[in-house]
Amino acid sequence: MAAGQNIVFGLDIGGSGVKGAPVDVSSGMLAGDRFRVPTPQPATPAAVAGVVAEVTAHFDWSGPVGATFPAVVKQGTALTAANVDGSWIGTDINAVLGETTGCRVTAVNDADAAGIAEMAFGAGRDRSGVVVMTTLGTGIGTAVFLDGRLLPNTELGHLEIDGYDGETRASDSAREREGLSWDDWAERLTRYLRHLEDLLWPDLIILGGGVSKKANKYLSSLRVRTEVVPATLLNNAGIVGAALAAVTDPVAQGFAGSQRLGSSQG
Ligand code: BGC
Repeated sequence: MAAGQNIVFGLDIGGSGVKGAPVDVSSGMLAGDRFRVPTPQPATPAAVAGVVAEVTAHFDWSGPVGATFPAVVKQGTALTAANVDGSWIGTDINAVLGETTGCRVTAVNDADAAGIAEMAFGAGRDRSGVVVMTTLGTGIGTAVFLDGRLLPNTELGHLEIDGYDGETRASDSAREREGLSWDDWAERLTRYLRHLEDLLWPDLIILGGGVSKKANKYLSSLRVRTEVVPATLLNNAGIVGAALAAVTDPVAQGFAGSQRLGSSQG
C-alpha cells in the first residue's frame, strides 16, 4: 500500500505489542484493519525495529510513518527509558526504524500522540484553553495543550507525590499490581490529578489509556475541580496521533478541531 491522499501509516510501539494501520489523517479513521505483533523481549532497538518492519511489510507500506514511543523523544531520539529497555536512551528512533522499514519515520512520545488524536478527533475536539491528556497504563503519560497546540514531552506522570513517583501509585498497573478496588484507585487518581491541577489549572482533563474504557467504574468517584472526561478514541489514539504528527507540526500548527487540521493539509 502506498501513501494516498491523506493516508499516513501510524504505529503504536508499546511494552506488550507493536500495532500499526494506515490512517486517513483528514478523518482520524483507520484506512485498514490494525495489525499487531507482540513486542520482542528484551525490547532492544534492533529487535523492535525488526518487528516494526514486519508490521509495515504486512501492509506493503511505502510512505510516511508516524510512531509512538513510551519515553521522551526529541528530534526523533529517545532520551529516557522509564518503562522500556535502557538501551533505547540516545537511540535515534527515526533512523533505526527508517532503516528497517525503508520509510521516513517520525517518532513522538506516546502520550503526546494520544493527546494529538484526542484534540483533533476525540474528547478534546474544538476545546480551547489548557487541556491535559493523561494516559493511564503501565506508567502515566501526559500531553499538555494550549488552544490545541502541544507542549511536548511534559512527563508529568513522574510528579513526586507523597514521596513517590506519581505513576508508581496512580497508574493502571499500580491498580492491578496492588489489587486496588476501583474506589481505592479513584482515591489515588484524585490525589494525583489534584496535584496536577494545582500546578497547571487546566480547563479540561482527558483520561486515556486502556482504562478509559471502564470510566463508569471510577469517573464519578474522582473529586477534582476540573472537568474530567474519558478519551474517546480508545485503542486507536496512539496510531492516529502518530500518523498526524508525521505530517503536521503539533507544536506550531496545533490540533484544535478538524477544520484547522483540514486547512493545514491544504
Ligand atoms: C514515560 C513517558 C510515557 C509514559 C506512558 C512514562 O513512564 O516516562 O514518557 O509517556 O510512561 O507510556
